[in-house]
Amino acid sequence: MTSASSTQEQTRPRTTAAGPDETCLLSVSDPVVATRIRLLAIAAVARFHGAELHLGDLAMGELAMAEGAAPSPAMLVEWIGRSGLWAKAARLRWRQLVTMELASPVILLLRDGSAALLIANDAKRNRVWLRHSRLGPNDPPLALDEQSLAAVCGGEAILIRTERAANRSEAAFSLGWVAGLVRMESRAMRDVGLASIALSLLTVLPPLMVMAVIDEVVTHQSLSTLVLLSLLIGTALISETLLGYARRQLILIVGARVDAQLNLHVFQRLLRLPLDYFERNQAGTIWSMTGQQISKIREFLTGKLLATMLDLVTLLVLLPILFYLQPALSGVVLIGACLITAAIAGFMRPMSRRVKRWIDAEAAKSSVMVETLHGIRTIKSLALEQQQRDRWDACVAEATQAKVEAGRLGNLTQMIATPIEGFMQRGVLLIGAYMALSSDGSVAVGSLVAFMMLSGRVAQPLASLAKLMEDIEEVRTATTLAAMVLNQKPEAADPAAGLRPQFQGALSFDKVSYSYPGASSPALNGVSFSMAPGTTLGVVGRSGSGKSTVTRLLQGIARDCAGLVSIDGIDLRDVNLTHLRRNLGVVLQENFLFRGSIRENILAGRPGLTLADAVAAAQLSGASEFIERLPNGYETFIEEGSPNLSGGQRQRLAIARALVHNPRILILDEATSALDPETEALVNANLARIARGRTMLIVSHRLSSLVECDQILVLDEGRVLDVGPHLELVLRCATYRQLWQQQNRHVAATRSQPANLETSIQGA
Ligand SMILES: Nc1ncnc2c1ncn2[C@@H]1O[C@H](COP(=O)(O)OP(=O)(O)O)[C@@H](O)[C@H]1O
Ligand SMILES: [Mg+2]
Repeated sequence: MTSASSTQEQTRPRTTAAGPDETCLLSVSDPVVATRIRLLAIAAVARFHGAELHLGDLAMGELAMAEGAAPSPAMLVEWIGRSGLWAKAARLRWRQLVTMELASPVILLLRDGSAALLIANDAKRNRVWLRHSRLGPNDPPLALDEQSLAAVCGGEAILIRTERAANRSEAAFSLGWVAGLVRMESRAMRDVGLASIALSLLTVLPPLMVMAVIDEVVTHQSLSTLVLLSLLIGTALISETLLGYARRQLILIVGARVDAQLNLHVFQRLLRLPLDYFERNQAGTIWSMTGQQISKIREFLTGKLLATMLDLVTLLVLLPILFYLQPALSGVVLIGACLITAAIAGFMRPMSRRVKRWIDAEAAKSSVMVETLHGIRTIKSLALEQQQRDRWDACVAEATQAKVEAGRLGNLTQMIATPIEGFMQRGVLLIGAYMALSSDGSVAVGSLVAFMMLSGRVAQPLASLAKLMEDIEEVRTATTLAAMVLNQKPEAADPAAGLRPQFQGALSFDKVSYSYPGASSPALNGVSFSMAPGTTLGVVGRSGSGKSTVTRLLQGIARDCAGLVSIDGIDLRDVNLTHLRRNLGVVLQENFLFRGSIRENILAGRPGLTLADAVAAAQLSGASEFIERLPNGYETFIEEGSPNLSGGQRQRLAIARALVHNPRILILDEATSALDPETEALVNANLARIARGRTMLIVSHRLSSLVECDQILVLDEGRVLDVGPHLELVLRCATYRQLWQQQNRHVAATRSQPANLETSIQGA
């Protein structure tokens, strides 16, 4: 790559720094041109790292830029990040610029709004070398010293790196991984630890003082010692208050940070799982295996774990002091503590079995709940309330029983621990008193009292330590459950990898076969067809013949197929998944509309699009006609499940949403099948307009929507029966002719016919 030494040769003519005349080569007076230069410079460095940047991905959009607005460094960084590269905006001082290791060009943002590439530096000669688009392609780079650079650049720079190294988000989710999260906060944890040591020392003080008061002040009646003690106690009180505050504050911050990390990470992992994972598993199960378990892990990490660890610190400080005060009695306390620990450890295995059963029961329970809420329309309309209630009752009964059994065992442990704990606190008093009586004065009363006060503080951390072991068992189970979901193979091993070509829209399937995981027969079997850019292909076939599978392969939802799926001759497996999906428009039979305004739903968060784009897309899809009649127009709010819209309206919105970013390739999978004939006719009438300039794949079991297609693909049990235009197929393909005749009958016949047609085509 470009290093100082290799550029020295090219730069020989310019070993002296550029004068004021030459630096003005770098300034551009037109802000729009300057912004363009800046973006091109960034794109050049991105290309150096193997990524293509597209202006359309820039958060502010091309329109705003044409009006002279300049994207902020933060926007630029976000823009670069979208291509999968690592980028950072920084303000660099001259010293850093001349000494930094230049593995790749650094983008310097110039004052005039343009940018230059820092391609070489030399600390000895105190020079940097820049490239700027104002220089001709054959000109040597410009050598600048500190002053001449300061004239054009304030030191703002953007650093870009290729990020391929495995980072935390790639590592498998496990208890160790979670522990790593806490370790990342090691500085704050160390401070918490120090505060705790100081605090425990402070808690030791009062008992020791009591001892001093009893042994010194009372026995020798010395007033000066009392004054000194009062001062000490006062100081201790104040620092105890402050340290306690600091400790709680630190715990709060560490807890919140770990919590945030955990949440971000888990959600990101979930989103990376392939679609078929969500299809194979119920939403309720996935939720109870991740969301609920994660909140358990979080509670443990930020609550009990921290608190118990801090208690342990107290223990470490206390034990030596206890032994110093009363070695024999300390021995008794320690034995008691060991007994408690042993009791809890003994119950741990049966306990974890019961806890596991309880967790499973809870998972089943929430599964029923989510499913019921999700399918409430169906449940109500089929009057299935009683069945759901019975399932719920059974789950509740099982969960309750499992919980009671786990609790019963915990209670038993408690019952064994209580007398030991009580003895540790009160029994020692008796032993101590006996020792004081029988040893005539060798046991000082003051130290005995101090011991009593301190030993009470030992039992509690020990008990919570033992309880912690129980909790760790629970967290281990929770982590295992969450890991079963989160450690599934992600959709793309590296979300940033892959080509990002500009699609023309030529599609081709070459002997493609695909079986769903666990299926006995292939969903597609040697399917071949190809489409020229800008043409339309209709896909027909019975239900289950593999029509949707074709569209899913195109979207990269199912990737591991045999044969070759390609766009513009590029193997789909080599294309970046996000890029692929951003460049497709897809409309399904059932489309999910998000909570938000109609405008937001059409734009769907795509960067750089405006209301004008939404209106244009709505006009193309035929949605504008009803949107404009709504009182709030494009700002009409859509509730969850969009109850305020009809099926046809929802569908037209979904088509607008798929069209708004003007995709080269559009996929309609039974998009009009659920519509009433009138709306369907309306959408079909728009299809010709929509198809202009696009490659379009239309799946439908109603042939009427496909007659106009350039080609029609007839599928049966995953095989291609025939491909060709409608007129050819009617003549040559028996199955197609049969379907067509049925449809014609349907058109000609009276009301009783449609149901027959539907069943005969769907093969149900
Ligand atoms: N997610 C899936 N998991 C397992 N099998 C599936 C899945 N989706 C579809 N199939 C099976 O694959 C075959 C083709 O399905 P599909 O492409 O959806 O058919 P169509 O869209 O023509 O009705 C069917 O036999 C179906 O049972
Ligand atoms: Mg289908």
